[in-house]
Amino acid sequence: MKNEGYIDSIIDLICCPNCGSDFSAKISEKTFKCPRCLTTYFSLGGIPCIFENGIEELENWRQQLGLLQQQGQKSIDGIRSISKLPYLVDETKSRMDEHAKSNTYSQKSIIDLFKSVGVSPALNANSDVRQVGRLAQYHELFLRDWCWGDQEIAQFENTENNLASGKIIEILNNGEAFDNVLFLGSGAGRLSWDIHEHLQPKATVALDMNPLLSLIADKMIKKLSPMKFSECKEHAPIDSQQTRYWPLSPIPKNTHLADTWFPLMADAWSVPLKKHSFDLIVTPWFIDINGEDVRDFLGLLDYLLKPGGLWINSGPLLYGPNTPIEQKYGANEIRSLVKTAGFTIESDQSYSTPYLYCPNSSRYRVEQIWLFSSRKANNQLERSAKEKYSWILLPHLPIPAHIQCPASASREVHSVFAFIDGKLSVNDISLKIAPHLPPDIPARDYVIAALLTHASGSSR
Ligand SMILES: C[S@@+](CC[C@H](N)C(=O)[O-])C[C@H]1O[C@@H](n2cnc3c(N)ncnc32)[C@H](O)[C@@H]1O
Repeated sequence: MKNEGYIDSIIDLICCPNCGSDFSAKISEKTFKCPRCLTTYFSLGGIPCIFENGIEELENWRQQLGLLQQQGQKSIDGIRSISKLPYLVDETKSRMDEHAKSNTYSQKSIIDLFKSVGVSPALNANSDVRQVGRLAQYHELFLRDWCWGDQEIAQFENTENNLASGKIIEILNNGEAFDNVLFLGSGAGRLSWDIHEHLQPKATVALDMNPLLSLIADKMIKKLSPMKFSECKEHAPIDSQQTRYWPLSPIPKNTHLADTWFPLMADAWSVPLKKHSFDLIVTPWFIDINGEDVRDFLGLLDYLLKPGGLWINSGPLLYGPNTPIEQKYGANEIRSLVKTAGFTIESDQSYSTPYLYCPNSSRYRVEQIWLFSSRKANNQLERSAKEKYSWILLPHLPIPAHIQCPASASREVHSVFAFIDGKLSVNDISLKIAPHLPPDIPARDYVIAALLTHASGSSR
């Protein structure tokens, strides 16, 4: 566990997601408390896990693991009982046995991984968690990052992993140095490691909310423990094996650079990181699937990036089914929002990549990646004044001081306008007003509705 203590060297970047205060305790301890609001957080194998709900998140994961085990066992038992049917040819029986063996192996690998950091499955009948959730998501990503993605594919000039990092490295090859680098949605960690190795910054923080992917990233990069996972394909190509056991290979042993690469388990939307603490943020396959509006995502980036900092985005625009239609922005809409947020787009390209190439089946998808880099302006005030209602469109931008309340407005509307000081944004005012509103009234909608009286007043 040689590297665990080094986690504490990013303590200057981290803060409590509930009250914003610094942590005085070691954030790689099994549990640690915020000194101000006293929320208890935890770490797994030295990785800080800093979620708004504190230690309750760990109970959710235990429950998810319990469900994974329960559902996995049910499916394994089902396959085993099918293989006993009297009318199957021997080949079908052995395929069933292979499936059962592979599923058992796969489930055991995941549970053993969690047990290695002291987390055992538990089923609590009173828990609100009813689905395996995140633990069941994105399994192919760790196979791609640490096994499949290093395979050459005849039609592509580079391997999948190298293509992803190589294109970003091309953008970064102008000699600019970075102190603190953040990957949002770092997944199983490979891209964050490849870029870290290239840039050698003071610190790279690889943030993801998925504990399975983060633990694997940590095993591959910091703990250097080889692992093996099984894969069972229901739709195997003709005469190809249905089940395979894939070895995951950690990074080479002889690098000290792993000491400055830090995994962090957290939700980007209650981010335990301090304002303006990163000079490079990379968002790979993230802007479309993080669960919120890209407009709010720009606010998050604005909060985390230092003035003058660089944001690199790489990935498709494949929004989830729950994203409202008006938020499924195309590239041209995002370019426009990025500019309104006061960022300058410095490079902009798209390219095709193989995605999840499985060497067993030689099957893969071809995805189009939109890769752009964009620099945050140095001057905050300059940005908000650029477009007329940019501070409503992007509610993290400061509302210009000259915005005035129409004289005829109600007392409630006047009380919203009273907060305008040229620095506060719609989001800031919403936070101040929320405790005074009935719980069923969303504060931001209330503030925006009040401020729109200015818009209607001035258009007359
Ligand atoms: C499509 S995957 C991409 C992973 C990785 N960037 C890659 O390219 O392989 C999206 C990742 O974002 C993470 N994620 C989604 N929403 C998140 C949030 N609100 N906070 C932190 N991580 C999140 C998921 O757990 C997942 O690992």
